Amino acid sequence: MRQRMCLVGSLIAIVIFFLLKECKPVIASACQGDCIDVKCPTNCSCTKHRVDCHDLNLKYIPLVPCCITHLNLYNNSISKLSMKEISNLKCSFETILFMNLRKCRIQQLEEDVFDNLTKLEVLDLSANEIFLHQKENLQRALGSLNKAPLRTLKLDRLWMQDGVQDIFKYFEGKYLTHLSMRENRIQQFEDSGLKKFTKLVHLDLHGNWISKMNLSSGIQTLELFNLSHNQINIFPPNFCDNETGQTRYNNLRNLDLFWNQIIVPDPQKWNCLKSLETLNLSRNDLEEINQNYSFTSLTSLKTLILSEMHFSLRKLRKQALKSGSLQHLVLSRNYLNFEERKEVENDIFHYLLNLTLLDVSNNEFGSDGANKLSKLSHLEKLIMRHVYLAKLPDNFLGNFPHLKHLDLYRNKIETFSINAFQNLTELKFLDLSENLISNFPVPPFPPATLKSLETFDFAYNPFQCDCEIVKLQKWIYNVLSDPSKHNLVLRYPDDYRCHKPNSLHQVPLKNAEPNNCKNSYDQFVLSVVCSAIICLVSTVVIAVAFVYRWEIKFLLHKMRQKRHDGYNPLTDTFEYSTYLVYAEKDSAWVIHDLLKELEEEDKYNIYIRDRNSVPGVARCDEIVDNIYKSKTVILVLSKNFMACQWCNYQLNVAQARAVKLGPRFLISILLEGICIKYMKTSVQHLFRTSKPIEWARRSTKNRLFWSELKTALNAEINQEFEETVRSLCQAILDPVAIKKTDENIDAKH
Ligand SMILES: *[C@@H]1O[C@H](CO)[C@@H](O)[C@H](O)[C@H]1NC(C)=O
Ligand SMILES: *[C@@H]1O[C@H](CO)[C@@H](O)[C@H](O)[C@H]1NC(C)=O
Ligand SMILES: *[C@@H]1O[C@H](CO)[C@@H](O)[C@H](O)[C@H]1NC(C)=O
Ligand SMILES: *[C@@H]1O[C@H](CO)[C@@H](O)[C@H](O)[C@H]1NC(C)=O
Ligand SMILES: *[C@@H]1O[C@H](CO)[C@@H](O)[C@H](O)[C@H]1NC(C)=O
Ligand SMILES: *[C@@H]1O[C@H](CO)[C@@H](O)[C@H](O)[C@H]1NC(C)=O
Ligand SMILES: *[C@@H]1O[C@H](CO)[C@@H](O)[C@H](O)[C@H]1NC(C)=O
Ligand SMILES: *[C@@H]1O[C@H](CO)[C@@H](O)[C@H](O)[C@H]1NC(C)=O
Ligand SMILES: *[C@@H]1O[C@H](CO)[C@@H](O)[C@H](O)[C@H]1NC(C)=O
Ligand SMILES: *[C@@H]1O[C@H](CO)[C@@H](O)[C@H](O)[C@H]1NC(C)=O
Repeated sequence: MRQRMCLVGSLIAIVIFFLLKECKPVIASACQGDCIDVKCPTNCSCTKHRVDCHDLNLKYIPLVPCCITHLNLYNNSISKLSMKEISNLKCSFETILFMNLRKCRIQQLEEDVFDNLTKLEVLDLSANEIFLHQKENLQRALGSLNKAPLRTLKLDRLWMQDGVQDIFKYFEGKYLTHLSMRENRIQQFEDSGLKKFTKLVHLDLHGNWISKMNLSSGIQTLELFNLSHNQINIFPPNFCDNETGQTRYNNLRNLDLFWNQIIVPDPQKWNCLKSLETLNLSRNDLEEINQNYSFTSLTSLKTLILSEMHFSLRKLRKQALKSGSLQHLVLSRNYLNFEERKEVENDIFHYLLNLTLLDVSNNEFGSDGANKLSKLSHLEKLIMRHVYLAKLPDNFLGNFPHLKHLDLYRNKIETFSINAFQNLTELKFLDLSENLISNFPVPPFPPATLKSLETFDFAYNPFQCDCEIVKLQKWIYNVLSDPSKHNLVLRYPDDYRCHKPNSLHQVPLKNAEPNNCKNSYDQFVLSVVCSAIICLVSTVVIAVAFVYRWEIKFLLHKMRQKRHDGYNPLTDTFEYSTYLVYAEKDSAWVIHDLLKELEEEDKYNIYIRDRNSVPGVARCDEIVDNIYKSKTVILVLSKNFMACQWCNYQLNVAQARAVKLGPRFLISILLEGICIKYMKTSVQHLFRTSKPIEWARRSTKNRLFWSELKTALNAEINQEFEETVRSLCQAILDPVAIKKTDENIDAKH
């Protein structure tokens, strides 16, 4: 029972808890009575909490609806800011956080005017004419803001020459973090005037006439001090106490001294700023920077801007820029010659080992200046616009393996090679536009570089649109067709135009079609295909030719024979068309093959010793006589022939006769292969002077054999015969040898 009551009790408690949570405390809304019907003012634009009435030339502050937080009255004509005017804001007194009264031509204001704007955080009273007319009232009006948690106050262009000191006479500024007093013609600044503002972080005194500064009071909380465009001359403002060397600007991170007249960057005055991260000294009158002025003592310095000093800066001396902490350095627009050691010492970048960004635009590097950068191995961003860089050596960019951003806009680079970008595998941005590169290597960089690259600008180069340009066109096309590289090439195709040849001048690179050249890629493909086909065909031809080699030879031979046939009639002066010299042992072949084939045609009258010899005639005479009577001699060469003495004799006679009748007189037939060492000298000679016709049993080769043989038989021979052979016979023959051979022959028969 008790347990149940407990349970119910806790349930009720939970329900009550949730109910209470739902009921938010009801705020007593200002939106009652008069305020309920207030709508957005005419010609203003309103959102739920904002009323925007800028540029309306309003003479009064309009009645605003309930609970707005932002009111913008920029550029109107409210000449008098009185309690009455302000009472139009009554529906939002408790809620307005932001009020812009800039450029409202306010000349008068009542002293308690901001009394009821108790939530105001941001007020802009700039560009009004109050100060001139009602300085005292302004002091009091600012005093009336003391109830509000004002964080940001803008008092630009109020023309208060020396008012920093007393303008805040009544204003406590307990919550003030941002104070802007730009363009006020302030000539002297004493930080003691801002001592009350114990939360001040951001002080903007840009565009005053400050030449004297007393910074001895210090603003402990200040982080950003904008002193740009003032008249601080010769020495920088003194942030350090003379005696103790300490500063009261312990939190200063960003000091902007742009456009002053500092000549000597005396480190004594800012050595003490140990938290300073960004220092802008551009557009001052520094003449040289040397070791004595180096920035070593600013141990937190990350960004240093030393640009736009081309009228004064002449020298960067040895160790002038020495900082281990420095990450960003801008030296642009100094028109220094980095090639000249007299202007820029060689070691100038040797003591900046943490540097990741370097901007040296608008100086002069020529062809050698870039070498001075070689030690900056941590560089991620290198900006060298318009530095007259004449080349991009292969070994230059390799010094910066972590480079992500490279800007070489408007230089004098004419060529570079793909190797220039070797090792750049993190490059995302590359600008090579407005250089003098007429022939881009294709591809311009290695695949690893292309992979990381997100932006590539090479517009306005003088492209040479000859046949080679097709490669570049193709490369661009291929790269852009990759979805991830779709926007890679900046300003393409509009700003990429041909420079040469004249016929294509100003023609967009994309559309350029150089004359007299075929598509080189197609050409390549074509040549590959062609050579493949040629290879294939010739292989087939060779194969076929090998298989049908004898037929082909035969055919060729026939053709030759046809040519000869016309002028080669058989002469009548010879009794025999041929004289056969053969070994006895080959007579079977001679009779069954040779004679049979040749005598089928009636044309040939063949002398064979066995058949035609006249009995009783001496052999020597008979041989000589009949060789003499024959138009040709056929020698049937074989191993048997080599062994036969008579054959040799006949050969010698025939060879002697051939001296007069020419080599065509002798027709040799090779019946079988003979090893050269078994050949007699005369036969060897024969082989050297004329090629024997080879016999083969195979039918195809066989046809060739007969054809060749017949052609040889039909060939015309030299008929100038001299009666020398007979005597030659005697001379050649050793009588003993004759006797021997005679016996040999006799023995055979
Ligand atoms: C609103 O703008 C119109 C035209 O710009 C002008 O005629 C009219 O007077 C304006 N009304 C007010 C209340 O300013
Ligand atoms: C201020 O407003 C007027 C119209 O009221 C306009 O003509 C003028 O250009 C504006 N001035 C500026 C600086 O915006
Ligand atoms: C401010 O509010 C008080 C009372 O809340 C009122 O008496 C006074 O008139 C208001 N001041 C202005 C300028 O409206
Ligand atoms: C700077 O201001 C401090 C405090 O106001 C003063 O004591 C000191 O004399 C001033 N120094 C110079 C050089 O005016
Ligand atoms: C100082 O003011 C100038 C002018 O408005 C501005 O350009 C510059 O960025 C400011 N400096 C800093 C560090 O904000
Ligand atoms: C600090 O020293 C400089 C010279 O180094 C001198 O001109 C200046 O008056 C000194 N300031 C103070 C406050 O002593
Ligand atoms: C000075 O340099 C800083 C740091 O880069 C920059 O924020 C500031 O705008 C520069 N000042 C001017 C007036 O350009
Ligand atoms: C640096 O300062 C010392 C002493 O003030 C001087 O002797 C030396 O010449 C200076 N060095 C340069 C490079 O100006
Ligand atoms: C160089 O940079 C690294 C990382 O940004 C930092 O840790 C190191 O302290 C820096 N070196 C110096 C000398 O400031
Ligand atoms: C690229 O790196 C390799 C190895 O790290 C090195 O040998 C080569 O010289 C580098 N190439 C260039 C152009 O720096």
